[in-house]
Amino acid sequence: MMNILGIETSCDETSAAIVTDGITIRSNIVASQIPLHQRWGGVVPELASRQHIERLLPVIIEALEQAGLELTEIDGIAVTNRPGLLGSLLVGVCGVKSLAWVLGVPLVGVHHLDGHIASAWLAEPDIEFPFVCLLVSGGHTELVLVQNRRERFSLGRTRDDAAGECFDKCARAMGLPYPGGPAIGTSANFGLPDRIAFPRPLRDEGLEFSFSGLKTSLIRFLAEDQGKTPVEDIAASLQAAIVEVLVEKAFRAVKTVGVNTLCVAGGVAANQELKRQLIGRGKQAGVRCVTPAPILCTDNAAMIAAAGAVRLMAGERDAIQLDTMAGEPIPHLETVEL
Ligand SMILES: Nc1ncnc2c1ncn2[C@@H]1O[C@H](COP(=O)(O)OP(=O)(O)OP(=O)(O)O)[C@@H](O)[C@H]1O
Ligand SMILES: [Mg+2]
Repeated sequence: MMNILGIETSCDETSAAIVTDGITIRSNIVASQIPLHQRWGGVVPELASRQHIERLLPVIIEALEQAGLELTEIDGIAVTNRPGLLGSLLVGVCGVKSLAWVLGVPLVGVHHLDGHIASAWLAEPDIEFPFVCLLVSGGHTELVLVQNRRERFSLGRTRDDAAGECFDKCARAMGLPYPGGPAIGTSANFGLPDRIAFPRPLRDEGLEFSFSGLKTSLIRFLAEDQGKTPVEDIAASLQAAIVEVLVEKAFRAVKTVGVNTLCVAGGVAANQELKRQLIGRGKQAGVRCVTPAPILCTDNAAMIAAAGAVRLMAGERDAIQLDTMAGEPIPHLETVEL
């Protein structure tokens, strides 16, 4: 049995989790910084780092307490070391380096997106490989071919804004609170999705995405509309445009690579309408759709522990010099010989 401590501090959530054998979640504590950043309408990097410093030890202690474990019962540590806000990543990485050193346990650095992908097998332990992962978060929108627990290749990503970023920026323009995704999702429940025909960027073309034009189109609409259209109808119409593009592309990817399973991951995967449409379309197409619970979609350390477990359980470890990196794209399928 291997008890793994997972740590996530790449953006604005301080999280610690204990996952046993890479699959059983014993605890998954998330201290969100949403109230701290809300008044600025987005994440302020320096404030985020400072709050991670204050919260890192409390979330670790809470994760241990909830799992009913002593610190000495931890067998390995997995920490997000890339990509993300450098200051935020440094807090988690430096913090657990000393912990790993003192405890004498192996430490591995985890790519944040591998964490999001691992939510697939936390949600469904016997998930069939290979599968396509629709990774939709605040900073990324990408279709990934997941060959197995170690190998994954990008099939296409956004050329500009991420889907979550589009939700957040549009919500801000509409006067809705940060983060915009949940705010638009809730408002959309009371609106008409076909009231405004927003564009569906690149819907019928390839596996890349583009959301910045949609944001511009919404801003132009708001300026012309002068508050006449109910905000619920705008939210529902915008959500419909984003969801339609994501669903279309996800199923195009599944067809292109010929797999039977699709998983949606990342913060935007918490969107009810997206889940509903993916499951509906999956039933029609004979494709199994895995939709992890919202706590596994937004940033959390259980997914980081699950991703790190793949290497820790194989006896691998990173050197204590483990570095942080602001960016590291997933290699594209075309550049790799299979
Ligand atoms: N119910 C929802 N509907 C739509 N979007 C949502 C919902 N809940 C959260 N989001 C969006 O998810 C994003 C946050 O997701 P996540 O925490 O995975 O992103 P991140 O970690 O900031 O970015 P990345 O993972 O790319 O580094 C935000 O843009 C937020 O608006
Ligand atoms: Mg994330």
